[in-house]
Amino acid sequence: MSRDDKNPLIDFDRFDDDRRPAPSITDFEAVLDRVLDRRGFLGGAVAFGAGAFVLGAGGYIPGAAASGKVFDFTQVPANSLDTVTLPRGYSWRIIARWGDPLWPGAQDFDEATRGTAASQAQAFGDNNDGMELFDDGTRTVLVVNNEYINRDIIYGNRSSKLPENPDDIRKGMSGHGVSVVQLQRDGGSWTVQSGAALTRRITADTPIRIDGPAAGHALLQTTADPDGTRVLGTFNNCGSGRTPWGTYLTCEENFNGYFSSSDEAYQPSDALRRYGIGNKDSGYGWAGAVERFDISKHPHEPNRFGYVVEIDPMDPTSMPNKRTALGRFKHENCEVVLDKSGHVVVYMGDDERGEFIYRYVSHGTWKPGQGGGDLLSNGTLYVAKFNDDLSGQWLVLTPQSTGMAALADICIHTRQAASAVHATTMDRPEWIARNPGKAELYCSLTNNKNRGLKPNAGGDATPAAGPNPRPENQYGQIVRWRPVGGDHTAEHFRWDLFVMAGNPTQHSDAYAGSKNVDPENMFNSPDGLAFDSRGRLWIQTDGNYSDKKDFAGMGNNQMLVGDPLSGEIRRFMVGPKECEITGLCWSADNRTMFVGIQHPGEKGGSHFPGGGDSVPRSCVIAVTRDDGTPIG
Ligand code: FEO
Ligand code: CA
Ligand code: CA
Ligand code: CA
Repeated sequence: MSRDDKNPLIDFDRFDDDRRPAPSITDFEAVLDRVLDRRGFLGGAVAFGAGAFVLGAGGYIPGAAASGKVFDFTQVPANSLDTVTLPRGYSWRIIARWGDPLWPGAQDFDEATRGTAASQAQAFGDNNDGMELFDDGTRTVLVVNNEYINRDIIYGNRSSKLPENPDDIRKGMSGHGVSVVQLQRDGGSWTVQSGAALTRRITADTPIRIDGPAAGHALLQTTADPDGTRVLGTFNNCGSGRTPWGTYLTCEENFNGYFSSSDEAYQPSDALRRYGIGNKDSGYGWAGAVERFDISKHPHEPNRFGYVVEIDPMDPTSMPNKRTALGRFKHENCEVVLDKSGHVVVYMGDDERGEFIYRYVSHGTWKPGQGGGDLLSNGTLYVAKFNDDLSGQWLVLTPQSTGMAALADICIHTRQAASAVHATTMDRPEWIARNPGKAELYCSLTNNKNRGLKPNAGGDATPAAGPNPRPENQYGQIVRWRPVGGDHTAEHFRWDLFVMAGNPTQHSDAYAGSKNVDPENMFNSPDGLAFDSRGRLWIQTDGNYSDKKDFAGMGNNQMLVGDPLSGEIRRFMVGPKECEITGLCWSADNRTMFVGIQHPGEKGGSHFPGGGDSVPRSCVIAVTRDDGTPIG
């Protein structure tokens, strides 16, 4: 969701803004001078207006660039249609929609009621986001996050467009979580196999183990779980990840919006406030039906969310596991890299204005054939510092470096730990993707209207500098970095910007974007990122789709393909009205690309995918080439 201008009830960034008004604009000219200065030390990597855009030298997958087939499609023009638009020679079809029953005998989606708690618990969840496909040679499973619910739509049968009774609230809770769906191939097409052995729903009520340094800590103990080792549910599951040992990682993002207080005089702690938890929730109303969401009665319950959860997709009886060693923040995705040393390295962003980018390095090492063991339980957390001279450093988060009492405290109050070591405040880090051809990471910094104007929620300054060079950044950019020596456990890295989004038809300064942005491919708010097997970077957007003013000519949210070598970017797909494009994975043979369409019609302006007067529904689509050749 683009949280700047939509669905204000759910917009905690805006809520924070209202409580902490920004001072007036900084000295923009000084900032721009600094940005333009950077041309020198970027070696021309990013320049504005008429400047050159040149990327770092070679070393990339030779086949992709040398064959000249990076862009084997014709760029799709921007549009504001209520459908999916693809290049000629490509087709799409629906795989699963919000409310589709996953078991035989489960209720079909009911357009009038939009389902009940019981039907939703047996159906595909709402607002699909990150997803991964697992294929063991016999069975194929698509694991899909269901980030949140579109209240105007799921409660569209209520005049208030809000939950009006406990069953409504339970329906909402079941619309969240994860949908694990086994697929089968019918002819050339994938379909959901109803009632298959591996199919399951994980919701805001599913029992989950708490593991790692924070497990059992006093701050995680509640009336229902005095041991602090077992929690009910996962929700606001945003991006995804996958491990070398074949498990799925789901990332809890805006978990704060689900908690509230029945006591208006309750004073949430500073620690809760740092995570945006206050007495008013963002409109879900869960505390009205389930007491554990009432922070005045259960102040530790919010400490049990904001983690990465590991799920074994091939064992439907296995209990999901919250891996507290990976820290607690508004997790976007987690990109797992097996370093050449065998250490498991996880790169993660905290998606809030002025928050940070993190790295986890396992203590132990992994070899093919092994399980995960304690590799996601015992390790070291770091946070990124980006210097203006294009160097960067991972700052270690330990009791010694942060002044915190123990590692468990760092895993629970990770944001505070990162502030303590003066990490770089970022423009809302979204997905991180690793280049399969070299030791190089890309991270979407989606936008940040507060850049240069006001500090983050912890009071850390957000100067326009380094990889966040533009004040009031409404367009976003993609930063990338390379660990020194190709060693993902190294302390130092070098960074540059792959692209700065912008609108060259509206601006002639830094807001026109970098040289690889032009009127034909422009976009705003990069979010989802994934590399395909050919080493192409796929970029999904979650931005302003007004097609007006600063965003004129950009149309609906979209998916583009970037060439990491040349920096060239072309638009591959345009989504339906009011959606974001999020979630991307491929079949084992790369002939099918699965793409997520989230919240079409979130403002009431779409009937995708059913058309006519139908209720708009988030869905996963399959994209294929008409000639049957691989797509990624
Ligand atoms: Fe769920 Fe930051 O996107
Ligand atoms: Ca989203
Ligand atoms: Ca996102
Ligand atoms: Ca986003």
